[in-house]
Amino acid sequence: MAYLQPDKPEKVYVPALRAAKERNEKLVCLTAYDYPTARIVDEAGVEIILVGDSMGNVIHGYGNTIPVTLDEILSAVKAVKRGSNRALIVADMPYGSYHTGENTAVRNALVLMKDGGAEAVKLEGGRNRVELVKRLVGEEIPVMAHIGLTPQSVHKLGGYSVQGKTADTAARLIEDAKMLEEAGAFAVVLELVPREIAEIVTRELTISTVGIGAGVDCDIQVLVLHDLIGLSFGRLPRFVRQYANIREVMTEAITKWTEDVKSGNYPEKSESYGLPKDVKMKETKSDPF
Ligand code: KIV
Repeated sequence: MAYLQPDKPEKVYVPALRAAKERNEKLVCLTAYDYPTARIVDEAGVEIILVGDSMGNVIHGYGNTIPVTLDEILSAVKAVKRGSNRALIVADMPYGSYHTGENTAVRNALVLMKDGGAEAVKLEGGRNRVELVKRLVGEEIPVMAHIGLTPQSVHKLGGYSVQGKTADTAARLIEDAKMLEEAGAFAVVLELVPREIAEIVTRELTISTVGIGAGVDCDIQVLVLHDLIGLSFGRLPRFVRQYANIREVMTEAITKWTEDVKSGNYPEKSESYGLPKDVKMKETKSDPF
């Protein structure tokens, strides 16, 4: 059997994350849920694309991530896979897809990898996920862990607030991160945690930390693409820096087109098709009666 070499030498695989950490090189991760955004993100050089369950808020309008299904993530992963060449593709495991037993969780993760083309999965939780992470990693499924604010626990937490603000909860977060590293996770998302805690976790772990609202010291920064480009609704959290206002750009384009249609300015002759010159129309009667 020939070992087929990856035909894209620049492709990012899981080991590249640790190598970057060892070189002290920061990496970036953005969400994408469809072909065009995956293509733009990939071509812009982003190393990791997360097909996040944030799609529940961002593209489905559910208001939170709880209703997101495995099928919705799978369909998005397939589109993202088609749109990307280089980035590592991480698929979020949606709420309910890893909560009812390890076998189901393995089966669902395999669906995302085999059918979708994901190269790793992400799941939320600390010490309560250690055994599951071990099992997934044992089945050759790379796992990105996620602690701090875990949006799938919104009903238990009662909202979205900074986690690990007391000495006890901060110590617990640091312990959780270490336990997940020991279980075999290749990276851990730190969402909405004090920057001092993120700095300690980043320093003490050999795996990469992926920060969102966790300060500058994380090895990797992740944001929701739609927040970064101004294509989301509602108040943005303080950690989002909006680099463009695509919502405004879209509204302006749509408004101009609407005006052109209504004023008869669109389409112009050059934007429509005529009959070939040699075609002679049969005579039609305008009034059949
Ligand atoms: O679903 C998502 O987009 C995430 C990131 C915010 C880390 O989990």
